[in-house]
Amino acid sequence: MNKKYRKTIIAGNWKMNKTASETAAFAAELRELLPRRPGCEVVLCVPALNIPTAQKALKGTRVNVGAETMHEAASGAYTGEVSAAMLSDVGVKYVIIGHSERRQYYNETDASVSRKVCAALAADLTPIVCVGESLEQRKMGVTMELLAYQLLSAFSGVAEEDVRRVVVAYEPIWAIGTGETATAEQAQEVCAHIRALLRKKYNATVARGVSILYGGSMNTANAAGLLAMPDIDGGLIGGASLKPADFTALVEVGGKADTE
Ligand code: 13P
Repeated sequence: MNKKYRKTIIAGNWKMNKTASETAAFAAELRELLPRRPGCEVVLCVPALNIPTAQKALKGTRVNVGAETMHEAASGAYTGEVSAAMLSDVGVKYVIIGHSERRQYYNETDASVSRKVCAALAADLTPIVCVGESLEQRKMGVTMELLAYQLLSAFSGVAEEDVRRVVVAYEPIWAIGTGETATAEQAQEVCAHIRALLRKKYNATVARGVSILYGGSMNTANAAGLLAMPDIDGGLIGGASLKPADFTALVEVGGKADTE
């Protein structure tokens, strides 16, 4: 099966949750619960301020502590922002780019997402690029066209040899934090579309090596069904990543899906 060409990734996105003390407590619990060899790539994206705390508390585990966003410029007068080099220097590997909440509340556009993807790759980071439609767009029947635009914009500066260093996350906005998940079939349809777009822009070998995650109310009850789909290679998980037991259960599902 083509899944053997790519990693299964279970990634948490904490958003603006947990203080440093809460991060340390979470990590201590997670250390106890998490299998030593998870069988899939495990990523936990936390608020920038808590990255060192999480790294220290998870040292020796397979958890990659990642970031939730970054600025596209190398350095300069951008008060409050964090650069790719800053993340890379503290040992971060993964960074979420273009989450719908960043697009909605902080005016991130397809153009800035594209610049951030290039900046992340240049700093040896793996961007997790988020794409996804709103409920209104889905109802209008423009999901596939919109996704094509978002995806091709995000990859517009990515050379063929760098594509496998990019992870894509399909996150339908209507499924984020709502408890309403896309059905496995709905998510598969879009993830297959994303892979087909990469095949067309690059080639089949490149496309089959890209991990495409689903995000939006993924939980312990629906994860196995989603990850069983041929083009869904993991999850980007908000709410359920905040509890060590739930996150561990999702990692276990990811580990099983990877060996199937
Ligand atoms: P929920 O899992 O809370 O719906 O959040 C999904 C998400 O936005 C992950 O980036």
